[in-house]
Amino acid sequence: MAGRYPAAWLEELRARSNIVDVISAYMPLKKRGQDYWGLCPFHGEKTASFSVSPDKQFYYCFGCKASGTVIQFIMDMERLSYHEAVKLLADRAHMTLPEMEDDPDYQRRKDQRERLLAANREAALFYHQTLYTEEGAGSLSYLQRRGLSDAVIRAFGLGAAPDDWAQLTDHLRAKGFTIEELRLAGLTRVRPAEPAAADRPAQGERIYDMFRDRAMFPIIDQYGNVLGFGGRILGKGEPKYLNTSDTPVFNKRLGVYAANLLKKERHLDRVILVEGYMDVVALTQFGVKGVCATLGTALTEEQARLLKRFAPKVTLAYDGDGAGQRAILRGLDVLKNEGIPADVLDFPDGLDPDEFIRREGAEGFARLKSVTPEQYRMRRLKEQFDLSTQEGRTGYARACAPFLKSLDPLDLENRLQELMVQTGFGREVLLEQIGRSAAPVSERRPGSPRPEPIRPEGREGEDLENVRAQEVIVSLLSNGQLPTDIVSAEDFDDPLLRHLYEALSAGASPASLVEEQATDQERARVSRLLMTPPSENTDQQLRMAKQCISRMNQRRLDREMQAIMHIINTKEGSEKQAAMSQYMALSDRLKKLKNEG
Ligand code: UTP
Ligand code: MN
Repeated sequence: MAGRYPAAWLEELRARSNIVDVISAYMPLKKRGQDYWGLCPFHGEKTASFSVSPDKQFYYCFGCKASGTVIQFIMDMERLSYHEAVKLLADRAHMTLPEMEDDPDYQRRKDQRERLLAANREAALFYHQTLYTEEGAGSLSYLQRRGLSDAVIRAFGLGAAPDDWAQLTDHLRAKGFTIEELRLAGLTRVRPAEPAAADRPAQGERIYDMFRDRAMFPIIDQYGNVLGFGGRILGKGEPKYLNTSDTPVFNKRLGVYAANLLKKERHLDRVILVEGYMDVVALTQFGVKGVCATLGTALTEEQARLLKRFAPKVTLAYDGDGAGQRAILRGLDVLKNEGIPADVLDFPDGLDPDEFIRREGAEGFARLKSVTPEQYRMRRLKEQFDLSTQEGRTGYARACAPFLKSLDPLDLENRLQELMVQTGFGREVLLEQIGRSAAPVSERRPGSPRPEPIRPEGREGEDLENVRAQEVIVSLLSNGQLPTDIVSAEDFDDPLLRHLYEALSAGASPASLVEEQATDQERARVSRLLMTPPSENTDQQLRMAKQCISRMNQRRLDREMQAIMHIINTKEGSEKQAAMSQYMALSDRLKKLKNEG
């Protein structure tokens, strides 16, 4: 985890946030032994395998291996980044962020942010309420004509901006917001006074609402903050959608529309990314889960990373028109760069998802098969060539080559089959064009290592046993069941275990060790080791530990003896003599150790 915060500050944050209290606010926990147990919120289960250690301030699920400190828990439950989770917990614990402590501007900006968000929230309420008044009748009937149910209108908090100059501005001023705040939030426009000119009289400053006579879509983030609005014109006209421009609380490159609803979904297998507000609302009304949209911009890296928090895969469901299709190719590149698995829903007849689901229904949508990025790219390329001519088929095969080159063997095989049928070229020729060896793809290609069968920590046999022994020691040390000087750092040949030993000996907290792990796997491994063992049989564990230590010592002696044997074999004279007596001494010690063990 990025270590922007001082260790001591984080330690205090974790202590003040007490993990049991924080997690208990989300789910029931029961005390059993030293730890608390509950049903894991990160995978479906009927018996509790989610354990929380109040002493060590982290959790570990024995079922799905979810693990972490209170910060990780908040990241996963609230779908926050590390820094956002730290901020949330700091707020809750009434702690000031360390890097902000000496920044005089920080408090001012924070206060301003809160004011603008409050103004936006009031505005969203105002628009929503207006929808059900006479002044909102036009917007309401527009939304209804587009087939939206009352339930979905409420779920998205849709609204109406009245056909008037400054109703919202007046309403919010009466609530105590200043014109400057409303201008900064993008709710109110201020046109400066203009002196008289030849063709017109002087004009005073003019203040009016940004959104007038439009159906309103509030943009709400995953924490429930109203960041801005999209306003759709009720008939024809420009712009079709008017959007809040970037403000101190809104950056359209960072968020997605409907993040608030996305956050509430659990166990999504994919996020469906569409282009428009209406597409999100319509698909949701038809029961499609996990839909969101970018806000009139191409997909950014930041948005891709945000989506990754909600589901393991992103499905691009852009409009079937030319612009949408080009946006898919760009979106696929962004997702690939971020290492996010993706696929594509390709809508027929240039339809957008909203139009498609109204025509074909939820069943039609469910029947729509997604295509892999490679299939999609080939489809797009194919359209550029006339496959009824030899020239076209050749051009197509040539155009496919560069991206086929980057595919893994199985994807390549699938695409190759398709390309052979479409172009009539044989596999040898195609492979040569692609620049890959013509060996059948099921066999190993030169240069690509054969994948190793997966074993715990990639070790086997005696080696694995040794690692297990070192793990037991670390586990007992972290529970205070062993004095740290019973072993030494050299006893550990696993780098992670050695680091844990050294850090624990130096007084590091288990939570800090859990938190510093860079990957989910490493964090799960460390959490499992440091979590209180479920059954407590200290005698047996101590016996095991003694065996472990003895075995570790034996191995160390073995290694030393091998080194000395090398000297004996390569040196002469007194050096050899000295080595030989050393070897004897070590051999005696080893014998003794083995007898004890
Ligand atoms: P589209 O033009 O595809 O509109 O723009 P749509 O979503 O199908 O809208 P309806 O069905 O006609 O109401 C897709 C998205 O691009 C942004 C909006 O976010 C819109 O949802 N956009 C479009 C704008 O920001 N401004 C515009 O004038 C048009
Ligand atoms: Mn549309």
